[in-house]
Amino acid sequence: MRARIAVLPGDGIGPEVIAEARACLAAVAQRFGHELELTELPFGGAAIDAHRDPLPPATLAACRAADAVLLGAIGGPKWSAPDAALRPESGLLRLRKELGVYANLRPVRVHAALADASTLKPEVLAGVDLVFVRELTGGIYFGEKRRDATSASDLCEYHVEEIERIVRAAARLARERRRALTSIDKANVLETSRLWRAVTTRVMREEFPDVALEHMLVDAAAMHLIHRPRDFDVLVTENMFGDILTDEASMLAGSLGLLPSASLGEGRRGVYEPIHGSAPDIAGRGVANPCGAILSGALLLRHSLGLAREAHALERAVEAALASGARTADLCAGRPGSLGTRAMGEAVLSRLPTPG
Ligand code: NAD
Ligand code: IPM
Ligand code: MN
Repeated sequence: MRARIAVLPGDGIGPEVIAEARACLAAVAQRFGHELELTELPFGGAAIDAHRDPLPPATLAACRAADAVLLGAIGGPKWSAPDAALRPESGLLRLRKELGVYANLRPVRVHAALADASTLKPEVLAGVDLVFVRELTGGIYFGEKRRDATSASDLCEYHVEEIERIVRAAARLARERRRALTSIDKANVLETSRLWRAVTTRVMREEFPDVALEHMLVDAAAMHLIHRPRDFDVLVTENMFGDILTDEASMLAGSLGLLPSASLGEGRRGVYEPIHGSAPDIAGRGVANPCGAILSGALLLRHSLGLAREAHALERAVEAALASGARTADLCAGRPGSLGTRAMGEAVLSRLPTPG
């Protein structure tokens, strides 16, 4: 098949991990006989510097015209002054909103070979396989913001249709898995959460009676997630809770650098990015873990291009590289990893199946 992919490397370690994801996608395409046209575009802080806009019109237009968007990470101290007029993060939020990618899938799998890479006990982690479905284009991220000399506010707003569509996306996913959905909210305090809970209950009762639904308050969920992570299958939650809980959940897998994500809307086009940020503390040293970006490439193959076999091959290659002992420095509990970003990417590449 032929497909066009808009590549937005961004800032910090973004370009470093995206180089490896690109190389893996190119290799998969070559081995399975597909033609992927990858075009890099300015985005984030780099685009503020070059175009005074974190999401230049040409970048957005290219994303709209593409079959999928592969994104690294944005942000960094250079653009983070409290009074900064332009922020890389606002470009990312605008991109998600403009493309209508409201469902952010963040799968968390514990690779058997990495049982010793987590700070948690291996017996707690064995068999963990869960997916967060994070609402991505609503909530406090997008409500009205206000600031004066002595106060500030961020409005958290949710509409029934926004909740219905994210719950349906999560429930459809649960149907393909263990048919168990956990909805996470703060209904004991927040009005938006009470609406969330009511809508979720109705949608599940009317449309997905075959999927078990459990409601959980977000503070307790943060605890249960590391106490008994195996009990979870699909977790659906609003934008900010999902942001926070998934960084926490990355510690089940062993590192923030391992987790991929897929942001989907109504059509097939999606945005694919590792869940981590630009990691200014290690940027430019060639030591970042590229696995989250590479696995995001696998999700791109599966969800936007419909190439399940190819996605699986890439995921297997990551698995095989980790099983062989390939480790970047972040995978350090036990024995510290010694591979740099390039070498880790190469370890994955070399384990892709050969044609035939
Ligand atoms: P971060 O995710 O960039 O880093 C947190 C910690 O995890 C750091 O110690 C970092 O070195 C480590 N880390 C992250 N990814 C790693 C990888 N692939 N390999 C090894 N270690 C890795 O979060 P932060 O430092 O709080 O934020 C830095 C900047 O990134 C901020 O400007 C923030 O807004 C931005 N950010 C962007 C995205 C995105 O583009 N989607 C996501 C999160 C944060
Ligand atoms: C993420 C990031 C973003 C978010 C920031 C950079 C806007 O933390 O993708 O998880 O909060 O959504
Ligand atoms: Mn985040």
